[in-house]
Amino acid sequence: MAFVTRQFVHPVSSSSTTLASVKKIIVKHVTGIGGGLMGSGIAQVAAATGHTVVLVDQRADILAKSKKGIEESLRKVAKKKSAEDPKAGDEFVVKTLSSTDAASVVHSTDLVVEAIVENLQLKNELFKRLDKFAAEHTISASNTSSLQITSIANVTTRQDRFAGPHFFNPVPMMKLVEVIKTPMTSQKTFESLVDFTKTLGKHPVSCKDTPGFVVNRLLVPYLMEAIRLYE
Ligand code: NAI
Repeated sequence: MAFVTRQFVHPVSSSSTTLASVKKIIVKHVTGIGGGLMGSGIAQVAAATGHTVVLVDQRADILAKSKKGIEESLRKVAKKKSAEDPKAGDEFVVKTLSSTDAASVVHSTDLVVEAIVENLQLKNELFKRLDKFAAEHTISASNTSSLQITSIANVTTRQDRFAGPHFFNPVPMMKLVEVIKTPMTSQKTFESLVDFTKTLGKHPVSCKDTPGFVVNRLLVPYLMEAIRLYE
């Protein structure tokens, strides 16, 4: 196991990113698509760390529930910080906007993080549409657990600005983020995403676009072995 880990995991240190430095995109405005378990967690963490966040879901009821949950948790964060900045809570809430129409909100965003259902066709349809509306500099990213990032990036005209930050559940608690690079992902995109995950207080690791990425690639055989031992 340790040998396999060494082959695939590359913790991303500040010094290594600085050495290969390119003009990075400072992500300030984030659009989260999919307001379910993962999307709402990513939106919550991004808003709590000072980003402007727009959360999108095709279902208004899910969106309303997620937005309420995010705002409640942000108020708790703000309460803790109120000694330093009494206005922090209001700022967080104002920054969390929501919409059911992804195409109408991506025109000026720095980063789109998709966390809709795990279905390649649906993800492809979504990114094909967003490609026409997103700003030129916008980085597109999928939080998929099991699909190939390349197979989603290929439907867009921005393969160099496409990658896969893979967050873990529950997002506010889990430090690890796998930052998946395809062969077409530019260094600028990769480094911008690494920096973004660091501003969220996460620990990014560089990862190739291989099945299961790192964690699931190791975890699934481990679980299968446990089941075989039980049998
Ligand atoms: P979920 O089912 O909780 O949420 C998905 C949301 O996407 C739903 O609210 C649904 O209404 C919305 N949606 C579906 N199609 C849409 C579209 N075209 N436009 C806008 N909204 C749309 O799913 P969950 O668990 O949050 O997973 C999301 C993604 O994150 C999946 O790709 C999954 O593989 C990945 N993931 C899930 C983890 C988990 O532990 N659940 C962990 C890491 C990654």
